[in-house]
Amino acid sequence: MTKILGVETSCDDTAVSIVEDGNRILSNLVSSQVDIHARYGGVIPEVASRQHLLTIIPLLRQALQEANTDLKDLSAVAVTFGPGLAGSLLVGVSLAKSLCLALDLPLVGINHLEGHIYANWLRESSPLLPCLCLIVSGGHTELVLMRGHGDFLLLGRTRDDACGEAFDKVARILGLGYPGGPAIERAAIRGDPSSFALPHALLRGSHDFSFSGLKTAVLHLWGGREGLSPFDVAASFQATVVDILVTKTLEAAKEIEPKQILLAGGVAANGSLRQEFMRRSKIPVCLPPPSLCTDNAAMIACCGYFNLREGRRSDLSLDILPNAGFAEGVGFEPTTQLLK
Ligand code: KG4
Ligand code: ZN
Repeated sequence: MTKILGVETSCDDTAVSIVEDGNRILSNLVSSQVDIHARYGGVIPEVASRQHLLTIIPLLRQALQEANTDLKDLSAVAVTFGPGLAGSLLVGVSLAKSLCLALDLPLVGINHLEGHIYANWLRESSPLLPCLCLIVSGGHTELVLMRGHGDFLLLGRTRDDACGEAFDKVARILGLGYPGGPAIERAAIRGDPSSFALPHALLRGSHDFSFSGLKTAVLHLWGGREGLSPFDVAASFQATVVDILVTKTLEAAKEIEPKQILLAGGVAANGSLRQEFMRRSKIPVCLPPPSLCTDNAAMIACCGYFNLREGRRSDLSLDILPNAGFAEGVGFEPTTQLLK
């Protein structure tokens, strides 16, 4: 039996979780800073890292207590090293390294995006491989073929704004508040999605995405006419994004013939996106529960479990990598430093 402690502090959520044997969540705590950053309309990095510092130890104690686990019962610590805000990442990585040093535990550095994919393994039955993963978060939009644990191939990515970023910016334009994704989703329920024909950038012949033209179109539409309903604009915007994501993912699936499609990242919590995938896909679609789509540490612990199982781990020289992404031919970078 393994108990892995997951630590996630890449942006504005402080998260700690304990996961048993890779898929059983014993505790999963997220302390959101959303109320603190909402007054600025976005995350202030300095404020975020100080808040992590204040929150992380009480959260760790609570996670251990809820999991009925003592520090000495832990098998390993998995922590996000990037991508994310440098000051925020440092808090989580420093905690993880200190624990591993003091308790002589294995440390696994996790790429946040790879972690998001593993939210799909936090269930009784594992997804089938190879699978096609659509990662849609605040900072990333990536279509990735997963052939095995640690074996990823990047098929497409956004050429400009990330999908979640487009939700956040459009919500700000429409004055719907922060964070934008849930605000747009709530507003869209009250609007008509067929009110406005917005540009669909499908970038035929490529698996890449583009959302900046759509965001600019909303800006011009909203600024150009009096008396528009923000609900209709939100509904039209959401329907356009959902159609782009589903169309492009299903096109890639037709070409690649994966056994399953996996959704990951904060935007995957969107109800309309989830419904459309279920309605239009002939291939089984795996959807983590919404609370595991947005940032959490259970997905990091789970990803740590599979990395350790494959013999991959880090050492105490693990550094943060705020711009970590997807390296062509390598997968999620850096491959956690292999101990020879
Ligand atoms: O994965 P995540 O929690 O953090 C990052 O790694 O970025 O994703 C956050 C993003 C934000 O842009 C947020 O607006 C978006 O996910 N999001 C949503 C919804 N919930 C969160 N977008 C659309 N609909 C939602 N229900
Ligand atoms: Zn995330």
